[in-house]
This record gives sequence, structure tokens and C-alpha cells, in this order.
Amino acid sequence: MLVKDLRVRNWRNFEDENLRVGGEVTVLFGRNGQGKSNLLEAIYYAFAFRSFRTNSSRDIVRWGCSGAEIEVGFELGGFDRRLLACVENGRRSTTLDGKSVRRDTDSLAGAAAIVFAPEDLRLAKAPAAERRRALDRAVFAVHRPYLREVMAFERALKGRNTLLRRGEATRELLDSYDEILAVTGSRIVLRRRQVVSALAPQFAQAFAEIHGGAAASIRYRSDGRVGSVEGEAEIGEALRRGLAESRGLDQRRGFTGFGPHTDDLEILLGQRLAREHGSQGQIRSLALALKFAELLHVEERNREAPVLLLDDVASELDDVRRQRLFEVIASRTCQTMMTVTERRLLPDLPGRIDWQVREGRVEAAGQEA
Ligand SMILES: Nc1ncnc2c1ncn2[C@@H]1O[C@H](COP(=O)(O)OP(=O)(O)OP(=O)(O)O)[C@@H](O)[C@H]1O
Ligand SMILES: [Mg+2]
Repeated sequence: MLVKDLRVRNWRNFEDENLRVGGEVTVLFGRNGQGKSNLLEAIYYAFAFRSFRTNSSRDIVRWGCSGAEIEVGFELGGFDRRLLACVENGRRSTTLDGKSVRRDTDSLAGAAAIVFAPEDLRLAKAPAAERRRALDRAVFAVHRPYLREVMAFERALKGRNTLLRRGEATRELLDSYDEILAVTGSRIVLRRRQVVSALAPQFAQAFAEIHGGAAASIRYRSDGRVGSVEGEAEIGEALRRGLAESRGLDQRRGFTGFGPHTDDLEILLGQRLAREHGSQGQIRSLALALKFAELLHVEERNREAPVLLLDDVASELDDVRRQRLFEVIASRTCQTMMTVTERRLLPDLPGRIDWQVREGRVEAAGQEA
């Protein structure tokens, strides 16, 4: 995939701006709080139909406005296409070449954006929920219907928890929620496991190249009752049984304590969990290695390069890791958009296009800092 241009209207702090996107590297630079990340968010929103920073459309629409629009021109599978994402009074709609499309439309298969932001650098030490979210994004990048599956699970979980909290959980209601959780949950577990095993070898290799020392590995951890079985039907059955077994406890404490929403992506150095034993530097290298693995995986699976969105990552890395990052970027076919405050941190990447972002305006800039 190749993004060619972006237009934003009433998106965050932008009134109406458009910019040409470089075939290889686009740099958005400017002081803090000017709108650089907002532009990466717009690209992500257009392709993923959601933000990576917020779940509320109130946040993304320019203050005082009723709606926002993002228009992206891009090439996919050799065809030029236009995606128009609108948010109006909290309702989102998207058209592709003028036709209304859903998030999981086949015509967007292979169109993926991968974000890498400073908080991702701490992923190995972050709460498990963030690692699950990172995994879910990696799955979504190669399988668009996945998000709908996750949302169905989350809706059921929320419903079940509300009943438990209010003490209104009848047996019939719990039975029906458990059934939805088992069916949708088994798909989630299966997809997450698949992506973890696809990422694992590349992750180990990337870490060895960036950092060396102890071997790094990843594995998906579920409750032992689920972790010990394979196949969608068997996982579903294990979830059904586990939910039934924990029902009494759930009713006493008022929430659902069993299921894929308590799973974790375990990141290990040697035999030890990086979350407990990793040094600062190791944690960052692990995060980079995971991102590199994800990039490779998505490109291989989609047979289309994703667009890589690097939000302020360069300034968070030391010289060695930053250089490694730029080497990987230069060696890949994937297009990169990055934000920085300090342009001097960036090397002269081939085909680089620079834009200065200032108070919600975007201006073309030469390469010299
Ligand atoms: N809905 C909105 N309407 C208007 N302005 C908004 C809205 N949401 C955020 N902003 C403004 O956008 C600015 C932040 O933009 P952004 O996060 O893109 O900054 P940045 O250039 O990436 O800065 P930094 O270098 O600190 O990361 C803030 O000034 C904020 O007030
Ligand atoms: Mg920013």
C-alpha cells in the first residue's frame, strides 16, 4: 500500500489542511502541541476506523464543530483509491471511492497502518491489558473482521459484569452470556495464539540483532484450563467450563475473572519474564524487536506493505537503537510517516519529504534543519 495524500477537515486542531505524503519517508516536525501526532492519528483512523489514542469521537472533532473529515488518497493492489472518513454528531461513516464501506470490507484487505508510539516502548513492563491490545492490533492488521469479533466479546463481558455487579445475574442470563463469551472468546484466543507464533521467530532474531545477550521469546498465556487445549471447539468448551466453574466466585466479587480478557502476552528474556526482570534498555529493545516482527509479519501476510506511523519514537531512543530503527526503515519497502520535534535526530533518508506543523497548519519545508 502507498499513501499519497492526506486531507483533514475539523480534525483535532486542524481546520482544513492537506499534504502530499512521501513515497518513502514523510517527516512531520514542529514544537510540542502543534498537531503532529494528530496527523498520524488521522491516517490511522482512516484505515483502522478508530483512533489509537481515544475511543471518543468528541476528542477527535475540532472543538466547537459538529463533525470531522479525513480524506486519504492511496494506492492498493495497483489501483488508486480514495478513502473518506467522516464523523458527524458522534456517528462515523466511511466511503471508498464514493461507496460506503465497513471496517472489515474486502476492498480494504491489505490496507494496514502500524503505529509505534513512546508508550509502546514500555510494552514489556506495561499492564497486561496493553499487551493484549497490541496483540489485537497486530491481528487486525492482517485480518480486518477481527475487531468485530473482539467488540462482540467485550460487549458480552460488559453485560455480564453489569449483571454481576448489580446482583441481578440469573442463571438463564449468565448462561446466555457465557455462551457468547465462549464462542467469541475461543476465536480471540486462537487468533492471538496464531499471531504470537507467527511473530515469535522474527522477534527472537530481531532482538538478537538489536541487543544480543539473553535470548528473547514471546508466548501467549491463558488460564491453564484453556492453555492446555487446541482447536476452536476445544477452546470454546474449556471457556464454557471455566466460566461455569468461576460463576460462584464471580457473583461474590461482582466481575468476570476468567477468560481471554485476563490473558497475557508473555515476553521473556531467557527463562525470566521481562516485565519483572528486564532492564530499561532491554525493555526498549524488546519493544523495537516486537514492532519489527510485526512489520515483517503484516507485510508477508498481506502481500502489501503497511504504512508505518512513528510517533515521536526517535527522540525516545538512544543513538544505537535509533540508528537500528532507521536502518530497518531504510531496508524495508514500507512507507513511513514520523513525527519529531528535533529534526537533527533524523538521518537523510532517501525520498524524505518534510512538513512543518505549526498551530494546526501544515507547511512544506526543505530537508535542512
Ligand atoms: N478536538 C480538538 N480540537 C481542537 N484542538 C485539539 C483537539 N484535540 C487536541 N487538540 C489540540 O491539539 C494539540 C495537540 O496536538 P498533538 O498531540 O498532535 O501535538 P504534537 O505536535 O504531537 O505535540 P508533541 O510534540 O508534544 O507530541 C494540543 O494543542 C491540543 O489542545
Ligand atoms: Mg505528539
